[in-house]
Amino acid sequence: MFSGRVPALGANRVAGELARLRSEGRPLDDLTASNPTRVGLPYPPDLLAPLASPDARVYDPAPFGLPAAREAVAAHLAGRGVPVHPGRVVLTASTSEAYGLLFKLLCDPGDAVLVPQPSYPLFEHLTRLDGVASRPYRLEYHGRWQVDVDDLAAMVDARTRAVLLVSPNNPTGSFVRGDELAAVREVASRHGLAIVCDEVFADYPMEGAAAGRPGALVGDTEALTFTLGGLSKSAGLPQLKLGWMLVGGPEGLAAGALERLELVCDTYLSVATPVQLAAGALLQRSRPVAEAILERVRANHAALRRLAEGFPACRVLRVDGGWYAVVQAPAIRSEESLVIELLRRDGVLVHPGYFFDFPREAFLVLSLLPPPDVFVDAASRVLARASTGPR
Ligand SMILES: Cc1ncc(COP(=O)(O)O)c(C=O)c1O
Repeated sequence: MFSGRVPALGANRVAGELARLRSEGRPLDDLTASNPTRVGLPYPPDLLAPLASPDARVYDPAPFGLPAAREAVAAHLAGRGVPVHPGRVVLTASTSEAYGLLFKLLCDPGDAVLVPQPSYPLFEHLTRLDGVASRPYRLEYHGRWQVDVDDLAAMVDARTRAVLLVSPNNPTGSFVRGDELAAVREVASRHGLAIVCDEVFADYPMEGAAAGRPGALVGDTEALTFTLGGLSKSAGLPQLKLGWMLVGGPEGLAAGALERLELVCDTYLSVATPVQLAAGALLQRSRPVAEAILERVRANHAALRRLAEGFPACRVLRVDGGWYAVVQAPAIRSEESLVIELLRRDGVLVHPGYFFDFPREAFLVLSLLPPPDVFVDAASRVLARASTGPR
């Protein structure tokens, strides 16, 4: 009856234990929080007033989005040092939707895209739901996470259509740097692959970190490129459902992509009018929210590194940007057992590394979004438990 594109259903052990503890009413500190609207950030009360524009009573369908909204996104990005022509801005309901549109544009059923590993777990579902195979290429940690370009090149075959980059990556927090980008671009040009660069976390570099260059592929003339972003992370407003992709590449290829994308986007017309009319104002008004998020993730990251000095068995891996931190714990029990022990005994929820396909055990992924008092207290319990043998 049902298609095989829907991934297997069913809860894992961690989700099962979490549901059990919640049903008992056990208080838990959630260090997996990724929803910025639920972590006590100062959202101005009238932030969303621009959504009430009376102009939204008129429906004026536009496959790539209303011209004024595309201009507003281009102006916002120009202010962040990413010059892009509004004609190369395509509005989407979210970054997740942008992936779906791009897979339809680039892939026939059974074609493949290369995805970083470790990275964002949703890639498995996003690819599969569009009938596309995801082939992992390795990121290696040598004091910082880096693309293993040889592994990436070795994964290319006749069905490969695109390379996905995430910069900074979720959860490793690593920017794709200039030399990695040059190597990926070379592989992509040689094999006729598109490059999709997810920069949803680009506005959140850590202090003193070697950031990448956001928008580095926007004006690319060698390979067909798509740079993704959106209000979800840049404005801390995932509920508004507005994302964008920026199309780059050699003139002919980019024009061919835009022509076809127009048909794909026209089939769905999924971006609502009120959020498009409000885009410019929302990007302006949400600046204090983005600043508060940046301050929050930096403070929690600094606190985690200080705390870890007291737990030499654990190592906080280098993070250059984004909303997450990775702790390497002694592999004296499985990640799953450690995470379940943290839930039961310490009342803290963290993600095990295997959710993100880390190459080996034991890694824990901590969100840097929770309020600092909650974060510091819960993170110390995590470090203490991970440093102690299993019970
Ligand atoms: C790397 C990455 N890309 C995309 C998304 C989804 O963004 P959106 O809310 O715009 O779909 C997330 C959400 O966590 C993410 O981590």
